[in-house]
Amino acid sequence: MPERPSRVVLVGFMGSGKSAVGRVLARRLGYRFEDMDQRIEERAGRTIAEIFRDEGEEAFRKIEREEALAVARLTGRVVASGGGAFAQPETRKILQKGAVTVWLRCEIGRILARVSRDGSRPLAGNRDIMRALLAEREPWYRMADVAVDASTGTPREVAERIVGLIEGRTRKTTSARR
Ligand code: S3P
Repeated sequence: MPERPSRVVLVGFMGSGKSAVGRVLARRLGYRFEDMDQRIEERAGRTIAEIFRDEGEEAFRKIEREEALAVARLTGRVVASGGGAFAQPETRKILQKGAVTVWLRCEIGRILARVSRDGSRPLAGNRDIMRALLAEREPWYRMADVAVDASTGTPREVAERIVGLIEGRTRKTTSARR
C-alpha cells in the first residue's frame, strides 16, 4: 500500500461483524484495534445497556460523539464504531475526518441470525424495529468511502476484501495526484 490511512473506521448495522472483522483487519494491517462501544463502557464504568436504561439514548449519543473525538486523535488504528454512530451527523463527520470509512454491508437475515436478544443491545429487542432502523440508516452507511459484502465469508475473508478495496482506493488517489 503506497499511502496508508491513519485510521480505518468500520461502520454498519449491529451484527454486521465490525468487531470481529476489525480485530482481524488490524492484525493484517499492523494497526491497533479500537472498539468504540468497549471504550465507552470502560470510560463510563457501565454497560451500554445501563447507559441507555439510566440516561436514555440521547445521553448515549453524546458520550458516543465524545468517544469519536477521542479516537480521532489516534493514528494507526482500525476502529469499530457502534451501529448508530454513522447515522449521527456530527459523529459521522468526526469519524470521516482523516480516515477511510468502510461499510460492512450485511443482509437483514444474517443480521437477525447473528444479533442475540439478550438485552445487551438496547435497540435489538424487536425484529420489526430492527428492520425499520436498518432501512432508515442505509443512506448514512452508504456515505462511507467503500462498501464491502459482509453477509458471506469469515471475518478473515471480509478483512481481506477490505484490504483489497483500501489498496485499490489508495492506488487511485496516488495516480490521480501524479
Ligand atoms: C447501537 C449499536 C450498538 C451500540 C448501541 C447502539 C445502534 O453497537 O452502539 O447499542 O444504535 O445500532 P453495535 O453495532 O456494535 O452492536
